[in-house]
Amino acid sequence: MNALAELRRRFTAALSGLAEDPAKLSEMVLPSQDPKFGDYQANCAMPLGKQLGKAPRDVAAQIVQRLSEQDGFAAMCEPPEIAGPGFINLRLQDAWLTKQLTAALTDEHLGVAPTATPRKYVIDYSSPNVAKPMHVGHIRSTVIGDALTNVLRYLGNEVITDNHIGDWGTQFGMIIYGYKNFRDEVALAAAPVAELGRLYKLVNQIGDYQATVAETLPTLAEKLAAAEERVEDLKAAGPSGDAKEDKAIAKKLRQAEGAVVELRKEIEATEAKVAAFEADPVLSKLSSEHPAIGASALAETAKLHSGDAENVGLWERFLPACLAELQLTYDRLGVSFDHTLGESFYHDRLAPVVDDLKAKGLARESDGAQCVFLEGYEAPLIVQKKDGAFLYATTDLATIEYRAKEWAPDAVLYVVDHRQSLHFEQLVAAARLWGYDQELTHVSFGTVLGEDGRPYKTRSGSAVGLMGLLDEAVECARAIADKSSILETDAERAEVAERIGIGAIKYADLAHNRTSDYVFSYDKMLAMTGNTAAYMQYSVARVKSIFGKSGIDPTALRSSDAELRLTEPAERALGIELLRFSEALERVAAEYRPHYLTGYLFDVAGRFAEFFEQCPVLKAEDEATKKSRLLLCDLVARTLETGLALLGIRVVERM
Ligand code: ARG
Repeated sequence: MNALAELRRRFTAALSGLAEDPAKLSEMVLPSQDPKFGDYQANCAMPLGKQLGKAPRDVAAQIVQRLSEQDGFAAMCEPPEIAGPGFINLRLQDAWLTKQLTAALTDEHLGVAPTATPRKYVIDYSSPNVAKPMHVGHIRSTVIGDALTNVLRYLGNEVITDNHIGDWGTQFGMIIYGYKNFRDEVALAAAPVAELGRLYKLVNQIGDYQATVAETLPTLAEKLAAAEERVEDLKAAGPSGDAKEDKAIAKKLRQAEGAVVELRKEIEATEAKVAAFEADPVLSKLSSEHPAIGASALAETAKLHSGDAENVGLWERFLPACLAELQLTYDRLGVSFDHTLGESFYHDRLAPVVDDLKAKGLARESDGAQCVFLEGYEAPLIVQKKDGAFLYATTDLATIEYRAKEWAPDAVLYVVDHRQSLHFEQLVAAARLWGYDQELTHVSFGTVLGEDGRPYKTRSGSAVGLMGLLDEAVECARAIADKSSILETDAERAEVAERIGIGAIKYADLAHNRTSDYVFSYDKMLAMTGNTAAYMQYSVARVKSIFGKSGIDPTALRSSDAELRLTEPAERALGIELLRFSEALERVAAEYRPHYLTGYLFDVAGRFAEFFEQCPVLKAEDEATKKSRLLLCDLVARTLETGLALLGIRVVERM
């Protein structure tokens, strides 16, 4: 039962005929911030009073009157209180609350009703570019996408998951070039992915160096010259006599000088990198033997795409190894997909897409390229380059077409880094022109930062490999497991460490509003207190240990004649919180934001801690109270465990 939704439904009915948009106004019913204002509070009488030119308190009284006349309202809520300028404070009837919780206790679904309007979703997530190691940025997509899938399914929606891997891009041209020129057959046979990774890195490194020398440094030098000139000009301007103007010039001068300093620093750092490369005899020899390696690698990609037998053969040989490697990470994270239809799957569908766009007059030639011009965007969406190559956007259009035809979803969610926002905005605009009208949402997320506030990198400067990251978290978690006196065997400690470590990474990711950046810190994510996985896992283990000590089996207790009674304020507060599970899940589903669920679970754990402090369970004054409190504990454990499972986090029996 979603009490908030039920109250809003009742408000909508009460407001009909009174307000223009009753449903919208009823959204102003919210959980109270402070229990002294009831369990829920509505402040819709204020705007409505203004609209109607009436005193808000009178409007509130009218709403309350209408609510009271509704069937079942009096059973659900105590007579509402009108407070201050016209707030309507709502307090649930204890009997009603107890009834809902009792129903939740015996319900496998914990009282969470399936949505009245189930939808079909396709969720496109994880979607790494294979043959490059997955890194911390890919965690967010994988973990957020998995949590959204679970929550939407739990609420009764159909979800098709599709890992849209990048398995056809320029990285394969680089690997193929590397294979043809630098391969080590022995290494390739022994550890193919590591060798492919080495080839990729080598070609990338040489390409980077050459691009830096040919483009980056000259550009920086130009910028520096311009900045220096600006400084000279500003200095030459001299005092104008006007104090305000002089101040403005002084400010501009400071900025220009700042820019010069920054640019000099950047040039110095870039030159140092170039020098380090050149100081390596092997690398500099390879670079001189393979000039313009970037263009050569691109040529290999083009050959692959045009069906060159040798390159296609190499791609077919390399891909399975890359996928197997990726699978190891997914297994460890406990994530799986219904489909993995990568970019290569759409290869043959790209030319028809462009043809269709042209035929419909949506794509037209501009500078030799095929472009879809979109209202409100300066640059068009390019779907085919001058040289005939198709682009990321072309594949995404083909993907939209395929998914619509194959699955006819109501909504497609793309769980992708916020840096791709423009791409998705333009993609959606183009898809609309093309006639697709289902929901297409870019579920974007922020960057994972290091403690220095810059995108998270290892000390070596490369983006951290995901597996290494998981290993490190588990290693840190091992310290927690080792400290526990309850865990008996080494195997048990290792298993607990694995669950805490992986859970910590996932939870830290999910607990932050996805649109914000967040700082990656093992210390913070593995803390035993605060909004962390370890604290949540500990809370579950603690509730379970109460049952362990009681000698009572929770399943048996549920089907016994034990009754739930909420008498103490801490019991009631916990009960209200437990009732709000569906509210939290529906909020996640409405905004595609899993942090509402972590926040909710944290609140439940907090309420439980208060309850446990104030209300003895095993030492309760009588048997009936003890059983009632055990029932509450049972619902807490199952709510936390279910919530964590929806987030993809496993609990531990004890820790
Ligand atoms: N492979 C892309 C990347 O890692 C993400 C793909 C997201 N999905 C999509 N349909 N464009 O940057």
